[in-house]
Amino acid sequence: MYHKRIKKFPDNFLFGAGTSSFQVEGGIKEGGRGTAVHDLKKPKKGITDFSVASDHYHRFEEDIDLMKELGLDSYRFSISWTRILPDGKNINEEGVEFYNRLIQKLTDSGIKPIVTIYHFEYPKALVDNYKGWLSRESIDDYVNFAGILFENYGDRVKHWLTINEQDHLLKIPERIGFPEEMTGLEYERNAQIANYNMCVAGARVTKLCHEMIPDAKIAPVVNPMPAIPASNLPADLIASMEFNELATYYILDLNCRGEYSPVYRKYLEDRDIFPQINDEDMKLMRDNPPDFIAVNYYMNQTAADSDKEEINLRGREVFVSEEEGIYKIVKNEHIPQTDWGWNICPEGLKIAVMDIYNRYQLPMLITENGLGAYDRLEDGKIHDDYRIDYISRHLSQIKDCIGMGYPVFGYSAWSFIDLVSGREGMDKRYGFVYVNRDNNDLKDMSRIKKDSYYWYKKTIAERGENL
Ligand code: BG6
Repeated sequence: MYHKRIKKFPDNFLFGAGTSSFQVEGGIKEGGRGTAVHDLKKPKKGITDFSVASDHYHRFEEDIDLMKELGLDSYRFSISWTRILPDGKNINEEGVEFYNRLIQKLTDSGIKPIVTIYHFEYPKALVDNYKGWLSRESIDDYVNFAGILFENYGDRVKHWLTINEQDHLLKIPERIGFPEEMTGLEYERNAQIANYNMCVAGARVTKLCHEMIPDAKIAPVVNPMPAIPASNLPADLIASMEFNELATYYILDLNCRGEYSPVYRKYLEDRDIFPQINDEDMKLMRDNPPDFIAVNYYMNQTAADSDKEEINLRGREVFVSEEEGIYKIVKNEHIPQTDWGWNICPEGLKIAVMDIYNRYQLPMLITENGLGAYDRLEDGKIHDDYRIDYISRHLSQIKDCIGMGYPVFGYSAWSFIDLVSGREGMDKRYGFVYVNRDNNDLKDMSRIKKDSYYWYKKTIAERGENL
């Protein structure tokens, strides 16, 4: 659709960038931090673990000075559960004080903190105690954790995020805390129990946030990969719709409407993995919808019909490329890919915004979007024009969405600074700021501004007029 574009982003639009605690902090044995489930996972050969990461734990002041110089309106980060509650139960004042100092430094620098309560880091002690999210006790412990954060930081933090990418988390045993041996039907059934418990926990924390900090806003974080049909065959359109239901909307329907979507319920019942639910929980979810929806967008998908007549259990596959009888994901010749095979489709972000808004009518914050790439340090510089191209094209889609009337109130690029990628260590970098280390050598950990840093600084200063 052709429409008149806005000249600049609105003055109150939040230009931001983000990180998550375990990927950036390091200092995993310092400050009284306890053990998180993923600390125990050995990384792939040649890939670093998370023990030092970008050493933000020791260098956060220098890092926030760089954020200020960049002109960030907001910084999204997560709080390490095990720094606050090392054993999941007892409070560690040193951890509370660490984030207190970090948040104070941000607000003193004129940067709004956006806090993710739970970004993949789960206390190992709670898995040992009662199998983590398989027990309802985890709901209480998560609510207790969130309450401590609201009490200590609620005066300064007005944007909260409940759980980052719950859908993704459920499929990764070392993050959800399921034993390595768990597979097939058992894994799927347990993942559904954990999913349900996490949705109940999210609703309880949303309620608590509204009670404790009436002027704050809170949201779940989802990771849509909106599928488009592979052809003009109606069956392919249906396949793409079903992919979106099974990959994204099932969680948002629980979060925003307190219901299982019909497609998802049927999917679970056909496989005999529908969890036990109760009316009180469903009512709690219905009565406590989020204030907005936080969207992490990296890529879209293209789906074709799968004409097989079988039902399969997937166990813990992180990305399901074919659900027999429902859809299969295919390559799209119009869509290029990153070095890690992730589709690059800026329009997919607009599709996600339009679809999510049409379904839930809630404002949106883009909480992650960025390009993981091999950066090269040459003569003290990093010429990451590929990242500038990626981010500018995605931001331009957001500008378009705002012009069309969709309520997107901020964009948080992933990531502010280089950090340890979920699975690819330091090879796959996302930051505006380079960290001088690699997988095997910590070097001097110095911070170096990439070309994209200067570009983003200009973009923020001009409020996106250049896009
Ligand atoms: C999101 C996560 O799924 O994707 C981040 O919230 C993660 O924690 C990001 O870093 C990019 O994924 P990866 O695997 O390239 O680090």
